[in-house]
Amino acid sequence: PVLVVDFGAQYAQLIARRVREARVYSEIVPHTFTVEQMLAKNPAAIILSGGPSSVYEEGAPSVDAALFEAGVPVLGICYGFQAMANALGGTVAQTGVREYGGTDVDVTVSGTLLSGSDAQQRTWMSHGDAVHAAPEGFTVLATSPGAPVAAFEDANRKLFGMQWHPEVKHSLQGQAALENFLYNGAGLTPDWTPGNVIADQIAHIREQVGEDRVICGLSGGVDSSVAAALVQRAIGNQLTCVFVDHGLMRAGEVEQVEKDFVAATGVQLKVVDARQQFLEALAGVSDPETKRKIIGREFIRTFEAAAREIVEEAGESGAEVKWLVQGTLYPDVVESGGGEGAANIKSHHNVGGLPDDLQFKLIEPLRALFKDEVRAVGVELGVPDEIVWRQPFPGPGLGIRIVGEVTAERLDLLREADAIAREELTKAGLDRDIWQCPVVLLADVRSVGVQGDGRTYGHPIVLRPVSSEDAMTADWSRVPYEVLATISTRITNEVKEVNRVVLDVTSKPPGTIEWE
Ligand code: XMP
Repeated sequence: PVLVVDFGAQYAQLIARRVREARVYSEIVPHTFTVEQMLAKNPAAIILSGGPSSVYEEGAPSVDAALFEAGVPVLGICYGFQAMANALGGTVAQTGVREYGGTDVDVTVSGTLLSGSDAQQRTWMSHGDAVHAAPEGFTVLATSPGAPVAAFEDANRKLFGMQWHPEVKHSLQGQAALENFLYNGAGLTPDWTPGNVIADQIAHIREQVGEDRVICGLSGGVDSSVAAALVQRAIGNQLTCVFVDHGLMRAGEVEQVEKDFVAATGVQLKVVDARQQFLEALAGVSDPETKRKIIGREFIRTFEAAAREIVEEAGESGAEVKWLVQGTLYPDVVESGGGEGAANIKSHHNVGGLPDDLQFKLIEPLRALFKDEVRAVGVELGVPDEIVWRQPFPGPGLGIRIVGEVTAERLDLLREADAIAREELTKAGLDRDIWQCPVVLLADVRSVGVQGDGRTYGHPIVLRPVSSEDAMTADWSRVPYEVLATISTRITNEVKEVNRVVLDVTSKPPGTIEWE
């Protein structure tokens, strides 16, 4: 792999993605890794990311000069560039000019790194310190007002560095510079494609499970569906998918999974009707965290019972299901390696992803992938577009979109309103602009309205369309007024008990995407 060394800002993930967009496989490692640990991963190249520190600050992460002696091509970016200069005997100092944001850079020598790029180019910078003198043997490639040495290279030793952020789209020729480094500097071939990912995973899964029986909790979402399709491709009917219908689904979901997904992939599916069980467990509960915990608990119970039944139905009683497929993605892996222990804002309950204290060994075929890569793999596997391009939907489903107690009537009402909103957003062609649009029923709120000649006293429905890249932060989507008007008119006309539609115009933070 190409290793991206994370110096602690948000850039490492972005760099890793850009490398993969260049069809080269990349992995993120923490800057606390020793040179030996990095080399043990047999890296094809190493990229040192940007970071928030100054190389002179006490405790600032440094780079062991031994890294540059190993013969592995290295690219230093921003902080990584300065740390590299520092380690190799260049000088880094404050210029007094802090460059932040769009900055024009003059390319004096294009070399390998900036080959083919314009003599002047717009880049995105964020730094206070700058490299003043390049280490011996290096050619200076570019300068900017705040960075006397804005890029350098020693192509013989395969060492490269740049002050600006090539991974950020505002650096107009950034991707080209990264590709120069990967293809020409490091001599790598762009062969990391969805097809190859699938082939590798299939071989790996076959070897892992042998003849064992495998199950997968299917939610109808992208991750669990693609993971299931991939495992099915590898081991066919040794896999059974379990879809727990907890009654908190939106309209048409069970049917979609049964018809579209099964037809396209040939996955063996067991649907468990647990609607009554979940309703009873949720009766009388309105506290969001309590609801979430109840849903999580009932889910696991149902799932475990289904696993036992699968073995019995297969006439293999006494045997057991050994493996569980999970749709874990790369950002989860990186984030849990971060170890900082993020505050528990909500207890997330993943229907596709059960807790691993269930007695199964895990198969996680998407562990190395970002969401867009999962989609590409899904397309390649023939998973239908309706599933591959689905917007996220929370495991606890409509249970956390009814503010108040969850009842069968309220679920029906919310399902109707949600179906209308989805239909109109799709009709308006907004599905791929909007990250997701929770539709929330304020079941404990009533307001007065008038319809025909009569007074109504009904509930409000909240529309919460958001745009986001990763759900960590989000902004409310500027959905055209006409579309909102149609949704509002239809919901208030067609859904009994609802006499008001309101729009949530809160970003995240401070709001979360879901209301509970
Ligand atoms: P919040 O509400 O925390 O949501 O801003 C962030 C994203 O996560 C989804 N979400 C969940 N997904 N299980 C899931 O699988 C959950 O318990 C859960 N809660 C929230 C939410 O829809 C959004 O995409």
